[in-house]
Amino acid sequence: MKIGILSAGGDCPGINAAIRGVGKTAIIEYGMEVVGIINGFTGLVEKDVIELKENMLSGILTLGGTILGTSRLKPYKPDEDEDPRKIPELIKKNYHELGLDGLVCIGGNGTQKTADLLSQEGLNVVGVPKTIDNDIWGTEVTFGFDTAVHIATEAIDRLHTTANSHKRVMVIEVMGHHAGWIALHAGMAGGGDVIIIPEIEHDIDLISKYLLERSNKKKPYSIVVVAEGIEIPKKKKKSAGAYIAKQIKKRTGLETRETILGYTQRGGTPTSTDRILATEFGSYTAELLYKKEFGNMVAMKNGKVGKVSLNEVGGKLKLIEASNNKLIKKGRHMGICFGDCMPK
Ligand code: F6P
Repeated sequence: MKIGILSAGGDCPGINAAIRGVGKTAIIEYGMEVVGIINGFTGLVEKDVIELKENMLSGILTLGGTILGTSRLKPYKPDEDEDPRKIPELIKKNYHELGLDGLVCIGGNGTQKTADLLSQEGLNVVGVPKTIDNDIWGTEVTFGFDTAVHIATEAIDRLHTTANSHKRVMVIEVMGHHAGWIALHAGMAGGGDVIIIPEIEHDIDLISKYLLERSNKKKPYSIVVVAEGIEIPKKKKKSAGAYIAKQIKKRTGLETRETILGYTQRGGTPTSTDRILATEFGSYTAELLYKKEFGNMVAMKNGKVGKVSLNEVGGKLKLIEASNNKLIKKGRHMGICFGDCMPK
């Protein structure tokens, strides 16, 4: 078998570990030929590929980013004036001209949706979920998430000391797109006093009142963790973190500063947890291809690496179910404010 591997969408730590897992298993265990497709689906459109020999897969386990490059090309969402069938037909043509027997799509929600549509058009596809956001339906966790939480937590740890020195409210905005997974986990791991996520409607007046109460109780400082995807007034051009910090300052008079953590959450070497998860996902992907179990996405289900049909995954987001999330429940019992009600 000859298989092609591509990485698409936002990058994250662990993609190279996944490429290594697929490639080494395919070559060593199953005797497959492996090509790397450059810059996501763009590489399939341009037939821009490189042969991936086993020795090229050494030394990339710990490497952040993706050796293949990525792009945000959405083959089924062309520009307005473009024929919607042009790119999918070109991809199918090139897939066959490249002599591919299988295609591995490493990516987030959009990528898995595209993988499903290509699978429905007859390509032999296996999806590998990746994103720091951890918002892909069908898998309990994605690689990239643990590393992003680790980076955000370390940043929050550092904010405690400077907040304490100046007796300030420190607001930190973390990534996560429309989901609050990074904010919730880093907020709890980093000792956040207030954690604001898109899945819980927040009341800025209540948050401000809570922070004032903390100040009146002589709490020296407060840490507010904000997910980038929370609802803020559309007319505000600010980021979520900057908006929340401004509102807190205006309402409480407390000295407040914001940190927008941004792309550092997507950079650098993956944690050991993400390396193992990406390796397991990658190796299992090669097994699925060997067994011709196409049209699936590898997934973590009940703590085990398994698979889920791509047509079940496409276009769905896995958001936090705030009302029965154990971490939120424990946080509330510990007096952490999630922006919707005053802690006891
Ligand atoms: O999906 C990962 C992610 O980092 C999100 O958390 C963030 O909102 C988005 O990508 C940023 O997209 P881009 O890399 O295109 O700026």
